[in-house]
Amino acid sequence: MAVIVTKTVDEVRSLVKEWKRKGDTIGLVPTMGYLHEGHGSLIKRAVSENDKVIVSDFVNPIQFAPSEDLSTYPKDFDADRALCEELGADLIFAPEPSEMYKEDFSTHVDVSQITEGLCGKSRPTHFRGVCTVVSKLFHISGANRAYFGQKDAQQLAVVRRMVRDLNFDIQIIGCPIIREDDGLAKSSRNTYLDDKERKAATVLYRALSEGKNLLDGGERDTGVIVEKVQEIIESEPMAKVDYVELLRWDSLENLSLVDGPVLLAVAVYIGRTRLIDNIVYSD
Ligand code: PAF
Repeated sequence: MAVIVTKTVDEVRSLVKEWKRKGDTIGLVPTMGYLHEGHGSLIKRAVSENDKVIVSDFVNPIQFAPSEDLSTYPKDFDADRALCEELGADLIFAPEPSEMYKEDFSTHVDVSQITEGLCGKSRPTHFRGVCTVVSKLFHISGANRAYFGQKDAQQLAVVRRMVRDLNFDIQIIGCPIIREDDGLAKSSRNTYLDDKERKAATVLYRALSEGKNLLDGGERDTGVIVEKVQEIIESEPMAKVDYVELLRWDSLENLSLVDGPVLLAVAVYIGRTRLIDNIVYSD
């Protein structure tokens, strides 16, 4: 069946009402469009676990700082629609910013602590924008389950915290990172990389893999692992480290010795493009 496309909250609500009357379960895949295989894996999982699947396709302006890439964020709605249709999604919600944010919009969802480290350091307003739009999407869609990629590990942890703290009646499903053959994590922002930068970008996964090797080999000292990962990234002349961190998963607390599940996360500039990647490790 052809995927339905709507730009309005009212239309989503009336479809959802009809579906719920029949007892259908609903899965939501929140995206900013320019869908790739990573998004595809979330849609597939949502389709396999729910009667109806909504994909939101919305470049959320309030999660971008003025200096960031809102105006150049890549878009290809026809390709997004084709992928959603091929994978069996039922509805694409692709609102205009004015549908989501009225001129006097004045309510935000602010999650503290867990948003302050990692990406929150260099993007202090980012998670407030993410949590606000995600809350709206949860309410609009009435979804039973929402699907997030582990690539944005801090986002996943923050959304889980928000859902727990505010008693949202929704299950958050974290899905594995999908990688290119050379290990680079799939991301809409990879499209910004030229050929040289694309090659240089493989250093992120090489460095994370060495971190994993150290953990596999029994190394438990956080400082040693972080230093090695940083050293490998810095050996690539086109790379500039924003952060390398090893934290408790998924509370994102600091730790000096690994004694349970951890997140090894990096953010690295390759040229002007900021890429993030991570692994979650548990014995
Ligand atoms: O991960 C993303 O693409 C965005 O942060 C999200 C969750 C769709 C909110 O705009």
